[in-house]
Amino acid sequence: MALRKSSLNGKSMITTQDLSREEILEIIQVAEAMQKHRFSDEYTGVLKHQSFLMFFYNPSVRTRQSFEIAATELGGHGLYLEPGGMRLKTKDRAGETIEDVAGVMNRYGCGVGIRILEGKLDYYGRGDEILREYDRYLKVPLVSFAHDRFHPCQGLADAMGYRKHLGEHLEGKTIVHQWGHGALARSHCSVQESMLICSRLGMNVRVAHPPGYELDQEVIDWTKQNCAENSAEFSVTNDPVEAYEDADIVYSRNWMSTDAYSGGEFHKEQEVEKAMQYTDWICDEEKMKLTNNGFFSHPMPVDRTHEVTDEVASGPRSIILDIAENRLHVQKAYMALSMGS
Ligand code: CP
Repeated sequence: MALRKSSLNGKSMITTQDLSREEILEIIQVAEAMQKHRFSDEYTGVLKHQSFLMFFYNPSVRTRQSFEIAATELGGHGLYLEPGGMRLKTKDRAGETIEDVAGVMNRYGCGVGIRILEGKLDYYGRGDEILREYDRYLKVPLVSFAHDRFHPCQGLADAMGYRKHLGEHLEGKTIVHQWGHGALARSHCSVQESMLICSRLGMNVRVAHPPGYELDQEVIDWTKQNCAENSAEFSVTNDPVEAYEDADIVYSRNWMSTDAYSGGEFHKEQEVEKAMQYTDWICDEEKMKLTNNGFFSHPMPVDRTHEVTDEVASGPRSIILDIAENRLHVQKAYMALSMGS
């Protein structure tokens, strides 16, 4: 598939909700072609001699590897950056402003990615504010590497995986986002992005969580609106089992409660202690039997024996490694379309 001039050229991606449905499908279709023809001359020079700046406040297995390799496979270079290696201004310390750091990045890179979430923030929504402030000063595209609200590359990789396993047309298929108990106190970003992109693609979206684990109301409103526009259904339940009924995809994932940032700091230990009490919130074989022979999906890292049993996570209906691989392809596609000349 030849790369054509795209409306994505020069465009940042903080959430897929900011893209048109056509742009979402364009990234996935280019990613599918890139998967088939991974080292084709069509793609290997797209970012020749260019550097992509990869700024991580938090650790990563998939995002770092897949973006660095994506830059290499497009003929460019991914440069790993951490805040500990810079003198950044914070609320407690003098240092460089976002305006100045972004201004410098404009002079060096073809694009910038930032990850900031969980204990690096003091309230929910702050990560989104920081990314949008960078985006105001950046002249090159900015892509979220996962922040407190959204994880666009994960959502694209998920959707690419669902097209492979359920067929190109996802309209009318059902995904359940099932809260799982766990010891990692995770951000809302992956599950919220999944709700948004699946509803854009016409899937019925279900959410199940215990009381106190409500998601971002604005994201719920957008998901409802996306569902309404695509003749799909949206529902939320506090029951740990009912949402499995006839689901095509089960996405079992822990996320933090609405109290996680009370008092202006992240309370990881309290969150873990509270979440670990909900032992019936685990995806297992018995519950999977209620589905429409559904697939098990997860953005990884998986908190095995808490969010999901080993039997399901390593079982024949688990598509977690396909989806992890898709991160590379969708990111190459986005980078080529937004940063390529
Ligand atoms: N899914 C995901 O973003 O994985 P990492 O945290 O390892 O990057």
